[in-house]
Amino acid sequence: MPDRNEQALNGQTAIITGAGRGIGAAIAIKLAGLGATTVLCGRTRKTLETTADSISAAGGRGVVRECDVTDLRSVETTASELENTLGRIDILVNNAGIGSFAGPLHQMEPRAWDAILNTNLRGVYYCIRSFAPMMIRARGGHIINISSLAGKNALPNGAAYAASKWGLNGLSYSVAEELRAHNIRVSVICPGSVDTDLSPHEGKNAEKMLKPADVAHVVAMLVTQSPQSFASEVLLRPTQKP
Ligand SMILES: NC(=O)c1ccc[n+]([C@@H]2O[C@H](COP(=O)([O-])OP(=O)(O)OC[C@H]3O[C@@H](n4cnc5c(N)ncnc54)[C@H](OP(=O)(O)O)[C@@H]3O)[C@@H](O)[C@H]2O)c1
Repeated sequence: MPDRNEQALNGQTAIITGAGRGIGAAIAIKLAGLGATTVLCGRTRKTLETTADSISAAGGRGVVRECDVTDLRSVETTASELENTLGRIDILVNNAGIGSFAGPLHQMEPRAWDAILNTNLRGVYYCIRSFAPMMIRARGGHIINISSLAGKNALPNGAAYAASKWGLNGLSYSVAEELRAHNIRVSVICPGSVDTDLSPHEGKNAEKMLKPADVAHVVAMLVTQSPQSFASEVLLRPTQKP
């Protein structure tokens, strides 16, 4: 149940990409619990509906939108539909992401490289391109990019994923400077291993790994911070090494 004493995001609209499972679902549920109208984006309607059901069972609002972040037309259509129906987007969480951790870069197929970079990096560009103008017109907003500690460290057998997240960090720092004059805060979160379907996390103890709710908690902290400041980057680690 949402804590009705804590409706800090009442009247606000949050769009979360990749909201059908894992970290994105947890973020959507958390923000809806704080009173936001949430827009749940992803390629699979069924999983988005499952998240929407959890939100509505708890008394919140989740709107399902099928959207592929690698497809500019799909993202632009979603943005213009939402502007017409909801009228505002206060929070954009760029969470959709994929990985491939199967082997060294020289053995990777170009198609796999393209899929990772197109989702994890180009997709964020498409979403910012499509949603930031609405925030600029509204003179405010918060963009949160879900990166990874793989965007800070070397990741053998995950070089394309690491490259996408290093790129995402550079994109985030730069866009934060571009948009702060418009009263738009851009933050990037770099979690360590999270217990989701993204990767097998071989050799790691799932009990010690971060949970999707841990990332959602950080998102909630960022978007409820008082307006005159923002945490531009958060490195999130499990307390016990998994
Ligand atoms: N799990 C970890 O250890 C970890 C650690 C640090 C950072 N992260 C980051 O956290 C984010 C979420 O990861 P997760 O662990 O929650 O992964 P996940 O459980 O595999 O979920 C990924 C989500 O992204 C969506 N998605 C994938 N491609 C998409 C596309 N082209 N358009 C729209 N949505 C798309 C998926 O939905 P559909 O397939 O239905 O579209 C799914 O809902 C990713 O950016 C990941 O890099 C994860």
